[in-house]
Amino acid sequence: MTSWLRKYTNFILHRKLLIALLIVSISISRTVADNTCASPLISTCEECLRRGPDCGWCIQEDFLDGAHVSQRCDSASSLVRKGCREEFIESHRVKVEVDATISSTQVAPRRISAQLGPGSAASFVVEVQQLDRYPVDLYYLVDVSASMKDNLERLDNVGLALSHQMREHTSDFRVGFGSFVDKPVTPYISVHPTKIINPCSEFDQQCRPAHGFIHVLPITKNMTEFTRVVQQQTISGNMDTPEAGFDAMLQAIVCQKDIGWRAEAKHLLLVMTDQPSHLALDSKLAGIVVPHDGRCHLEDNTYTQTTNMEHPTMGQLADALLRNSIYSILAVDIAQYKWYEDLLDLLPGAFLGRLLPKATNLKDLVVDAYKKLLSEVELEVTVDHRHAHRFWVNVTTICPPGSRPTGSNKCSNVKSMQKVFFNITVGMTSCPSKGLEDDDVAISVQPVGFNESVAVTIKQACSCQCSQKGGCLDDADDTIAGTACNDISENSGQVSTDVCRPSEGSGKICNGRGTCVCGECVCDRSNLGTIYGKFCEMDDFSCPYEEGLLCGGHGQCTLGECVCQIGWTGESCGCLVSTETCQLSDGLLCSGRGRCVCGRCMCDDPQYSGEFCEKCPTCYTACQAHWMCVDCHLTNGLGRGTAEQCNKTCAPVVGYVDDITELTNALGKQCLYPSADRCHYRFHIGVEPGSPQLQISRQPECLSSQRYFVTFLSVFLLTVVLGLGILAVLRILLRRRERPQPDNQNQPLDTGKKDLSYAPTTNEKTVTYRRDHNVERSVEMHVQVPKMPLDDMWQ
Ligand SMILES: *[C@@H]1O[C@H](CO)[C@@H](O)[C@H](O)[C@H]1NC(C)=O
Ligand SMILES: *[C@@H]1O[C@H](CO)[C@@H](O)[C@H](O)[C@H]1NC(C)=O
Ligand SMILES: *[C@@H]1O[C@H](CO)[C@@H](O)[C@H](O)[C@H]1NC(C)=O
Ligand SMILES: *[C@@H]1O[C@H](CO)[C@@H](O)[C@H](O)[C@H]1NC(C)=O
Ligand SMILES: *[C@@H]1O[C@H](CO)[C@@H](O)[C@H](O)[C@H]1NC(C)=O
Repeated sequence: MTSWLRKYTNFILHRKLLIALLIVSISISRTVADNTCASPLISTCEECLRRGPDCGWCIQEDFLDGAHVSQRCDSASSLVRKGCREEFIESHRVKVEVDATISSTQVAPRRISAQLGPGSAASFVVEVQQLDRYPVDLYYLVDVSASMKDNLERLDNVGLALSHQMREHTSDFRVGFGSFVDKPVTPYISVHPTKIINPCSEFDQQCRPAHGFIHVLPITKNMTEFTRVVQQQTISGNMDTPEAGFDAMLQAIVCQKDIGWRAEAKHLLLVMTDQPSHLALDSKLAGIVVPHDGRCHLEDNTYTQTTNMEHPTMGQLADALLRNSIYSILAVDIAQYKWYEDLLDLLPGAFLGRLLPKATNLKDLVVDAYKKLLSEVELEVTVDHRHAHRFWVNVTTICPPGSRPTGSNKCSNVKSMQKVFFNITVGMTSCPSKGLEDDDVAISVQPVGFNESVAVTIKQACSCQCSQKGGCLDDADDTIAGTACNDISENSGQVSTDVCRPSEGSGKICNGRGTCVCGECVCDRSNLGTIYGKFCEMDDFSCPYEEGLLCGGHGQCTLGECVCQIGWTGESCGCLVSTETCQLSDGLLCSGRGRCVCGRCMCDDPQYSGEFCEKCPTCYTACQAHWMCVDCHLTNGLGRGTAEQCNKTCAPVVGYVDDITELTNALGKQCLYPSADRCHYRFHIGVEPGSPQLQISRQPECLSSQRYFVTFLSVFLLTVVLGLGILAVLRILLRRRERPQPDNQNQPLDTGKKDLSYAPTTNEKTVTYRRDHNVERSVEMHVQVPKMPLDDMWQ
């Protein structure tokens, strides 16, 4: 006994060891496979999701009971394999939503929102179309330092010619004018008192004082005005070679209102100069150290901060150009071409041209620039600078056929009305530092020079939904981290589960058929079917069926009762509300003899039937209905009806006629009444008012008793003879079947017919009786049961 016990315990121990080994090997293989997500160091949902785009966190309460909390973090597929239901997995699925409600003429879509988690990326396509003709605003920004004297003198003529030439490309061309020299501080200008007022005094010429930027003429249609203004311009002077070109440009760009840029127009900023421009940090030499703020500082059309702020950086300038959708045309002296060429790549939508002496080619230069700028479609994508380091953007361009892509995000030679597509992929590398998780990241997708752009908003999925809503995962201690919200919030009162109750605060949470997770019902699973609905109130199994369909296929099963669609009614929504199907063409509902229930007639009188209660096989015919009254009269109230009845209802409607055939052609119906005296009385049911309704013939048609007997006898004899004949035929047929067939006794199959006389006459059975478990001593018995001879009953 003891040895047996030991053997058994050994076996059990062995089995346990085996299972343990198996579990270890499985978990090792799993951690190897999904090691990006699973880690024993993870204790919160946030930490888990930060490990990668594929990681998920299981918030199901009873998930892997008792296991370490880090087990809740794994790839979504592994979690499902481990028994976590999909509704309980927090993960960051990439979502892209396109808002198509904003109308646009050139750029579509105008607004996109996307959700990204660390390591994930989203793609979307932006479509840009250049229109046929645009209104055009051209702002002349002219360097009026002494060396530009020749150019300036020619400008009024050129301006007029240019406006003529631009009519080919636009029907609405407007111009404006502004001038610049340099920051009016030493060492850029001479501060000798005479030279401040007239910088050209040493050349015996009249000049005006140097200035940073003066806005002279807002954008206007009036070319006469433009010519007048340009003619009034006088030159100025300064000391050093570079001028404050970029400083003035920035003001001309950002002072939208003062300059008068129109929203619907293409904006051209023409900068004419024969010198390079100062760059951002140059002004430190003059003791100006405040960085430029990128804003407009015009007062009385004069740039006021020129002596206080540094020159803008190239980045600020590029950003301003892009945001205000301005193309810049740099018409520079040939000697400075190289200097500007190096900067060209930094300025989006910029065109650089060589200005010949006396600005002779200015007109062609501007027209060429306009044509070139409008034949290029270029996209600039800018990520909010606070988050830019955590995002990457990749643009692929699909240019229209016929134009070659010249860069990754630019198409050239695009004709008007052609479409350019940009496939933009935005990726997020990591989550922001703490406190910035809730910030949405703005990405601007701006086609250069267009007045429309795409606003992309990226939602950073770096925290868990559940903790966002109620903080329950954050507040939970390690052992219960991951429990569904309602349990924790019921204790801490942070998230009300009332939102999961069907009638605001009362009723069972999710109708008792689900769990409240982060303010939303997650419905239970049932073997019977699916439970769904905002409060798990609907399902597909607990309601009556009609013709094999739940709620007849015409309703929703809500809390065990069918909620029928409009037009349907009944417990299982199998009934049409309309009674159309109960009406014949006469408009009477069920022929006036019933109610319409569920689109079918229910007849009040059980004698009636048919789809519209129109049939009555057992009803009296019209003739039979009047038999009683006829009888009353013939028997004087002693026949079928009681005397009282006869007097009351029959007396006034009955009359007699001598010759019924007279009434044959009258309206109504001819009938027969068979009376008890073996006579037929003809009567007529009339419909004419005035005359009695029933007219009974005085002459009955009676069978004489002799004729009656003969008829009866012949029918009787005919019946007897026919019956005897049938019996005789049956007898002969049966006899033939009973006759034995001795020839075929040994080959019953030859006959091809089944002959029952060859069946065995006894049944034999062998029965073995067993007295105990000893097999050798059992007793076998043969029992013979005689069968009843097959032909017995025929004899
Ligand atoms: C255009 O400007 C001139 C001179 O500045 C002025 O006399 C004329 O009235 C203006 N025309 C219009 C249409 O404003
Ligand atoms: C952009 O320009 C187009 C074409 O001129 C115009 O139809 C549209 O209204 C402008 N959009 C905005 C926002 O100004
Ligand atoms: C951008 O797309 C190109 C072409 O598909 C690809 O070669 C490149 O690796 C992508 N860059 C990033 C950062 O995904
Ligand atoms: C856009 O680019 C992404 C990433 O390269 C690619 O997966 C996607 O299919 C592209 N979409 C279209 C419409 O070309
Ligand atoms: C029926 O009417 C006849 C004649 O008007 C009358 O004699 C008889 O009493 C009435 N019978 C009954 C039961 O009212």
